[in-house]
Amino acid sequence: MKVIQVNKPGELAIVERPAPTAPATDEAIVRIKAAGICGSDVHIFHGKNPFAVYPRILGHEAAGEVIAVGSAVTNVKVGDHVVIDNVFSCGKCYACRIGRPNVCSNVKVLGVHIDGVFSELLKLPADHLYPVPVDLPWELAATMEPYAIAAEAVDRGQVGVGDTVLICGAGPIGLVILQACKSLGARVLIMDIVDARLKAAAAMGADAVVNTKTSDLEAAVNEFTDGEGINVAMEATGVISILELIIAKLMSPAGRVVVLGFPVDPAKIVPADIMKRELDIKGSRLNNRKFAEVVRWFAEKKVDPTGLVSHVLPYTDVEKGMELFANHPEEVCKILIKFD
Ligand SMILES: NC(=O)c1ccc[n+]([C@@H]2O[C@H](COP(=O)([O-])OP(=O)(O)OC[C@H]3O[C@@H](n4cnc5c(N)ncnc54)[C@H](O)[C@@H]3O)[C@@H](O)[C@H]2O)c1
Ligand SMILES: [Zn+2]
Ligand SMILES: [Zn+2]
Repeated sequence: MKVIQVNKPGELAIVERPAPTAPATDEAIVRIKAAGICGSDVHIFHGKNPFAVYPRILGHEAAGEVIAVGSAVTNVKVGDHVVIDNVFSCGKCYACRIGRPNVCSNVKVLGVHIDGVFSELLKLPADHLYPVPVDLPWELAATMEPYAIAAEAVDRGQVGVGDTVLICGAGPIGLVILQACKSLGARVLIMDIVDARLKAAAAMGADAVVNTKTSDLEAAVNEFTDGEGINVAMEATGVISILELIIAKLMSPAGRVVVLGFPVDPAKIVPADIMKRELDIKGSRLNNRKFAEVVRWFAEKKVDPTGLVSHVLPYTDVEKGMELFANHPEEVCKILIKFD
C-alpha cells in the first residue's frame, strides 16, 4: 500500500509499505478515501513539532470504508463508511480515570505520535470508528475531525443561547467553532487579518467580523456587546498578545476564555484581571469522544462543511497541498487529499 511519510524534517515521500495483516478481534481495517491536511501535518513536515518522531506517516483527519473487522467488533461492519477518532489514551492515568482521555498523560495522536491516516489502508481499534451516511461525500466526511475540535471548544467554553462569543482567528478551526457556536444560539464576532477568511466567516453566519489590521479589536468588542464585554473568547490564532488582550480588556464578568492555540512563550497576565471577574481560563485540546455528537450535527444539518473545503487534490499532490496551505491563507481553507 502507498503511504505519505515524512522521512525527516523537510523530506516528504510517497512510499510503499506492507498492507496491514488480519485484524485482531477488536480491530478493523479501513480503506482511506479522503484525508484533510492540517497545520500540524505541515509543522511535522517542517520539523516544528517537538513530539514528532521520524519517519512518520502524516494525517489525523480521515474518512474511509471498512474492509475487514475482527470477530468481536459490533459497532461497525464491512462496507460501512466511517470517520476516525484520532485520539488514543492509556485508560489508567488521572485524566483518563475522570473521563478526559483527550488529555491523557500518555496521549497518542494519529499522524503525530503514531503513524497516521495518509495511508491507503489503516488498521486500528474499531472503537475509534464512527459510521457516517453512505451518501455523504468522502471529502466532507473527512472534515469531522476539526468539527470534533469545535465540539470540545464549545463544551469547554460552555457556550449557550444568547452568549456573545469572540473567535480569534478565522482559519479552519475558527470557522468550525463559529458554526458550532451559531448552532448553539450564540452571537459571534470573529477577527482575523485576512479579508478572504473574514468573508468566509460572514458567509458562514458570523454576526460581525473585524479585520484587526485596520480596526481596533477592543472597540469592536465594546460595540458588539454594548460595553458588557465578551462572554466567551476562543483563542485560535496562536498569537500571545491576543490572549493577553483578551484577559486584560475584552472579557465580561463570569466570562470563559478557551485557549486553542499553543505558542510556547510566556504571556503577561495580571491575576487581578482573572480574580475580579471570576474568569475561567481553559485549555481545549483535541476532542473528548465528540465524534458521535459531530455525526449528529451533520445529520441534523446543524453545521455545513461545504464552505470549508477549498481544495480537493489527488494524494499524489500532497506536497503541493502542504505548500498551498502554508503559504496562501487567502486562497486556502481546508485542503483534502483523495486516495482513489
Ligand atoms: N487545541 C486544539 O486541539 C487544536 C487543534 C487544531 C489546531 N489548533 C491550533 O488552533 C489555531 C488555529 O488553527 P487553524 O488550523 O485554524 O490555523 P490557521 O493558521 O489556518 O488559522 C489561524 C488564523 O489566525 C489568523 N491570525 C494570525 N495572526 C493573527 C493576528 N495577529 N491577528 C489576527 N489574526 C491572526 C490567521 O490569519 C489565520 O486565519 C492554531 O494555533 C493551531 O495550532 C489547536
Ligand atoms: Zn487537524
Ligand atoms: Zn491516560
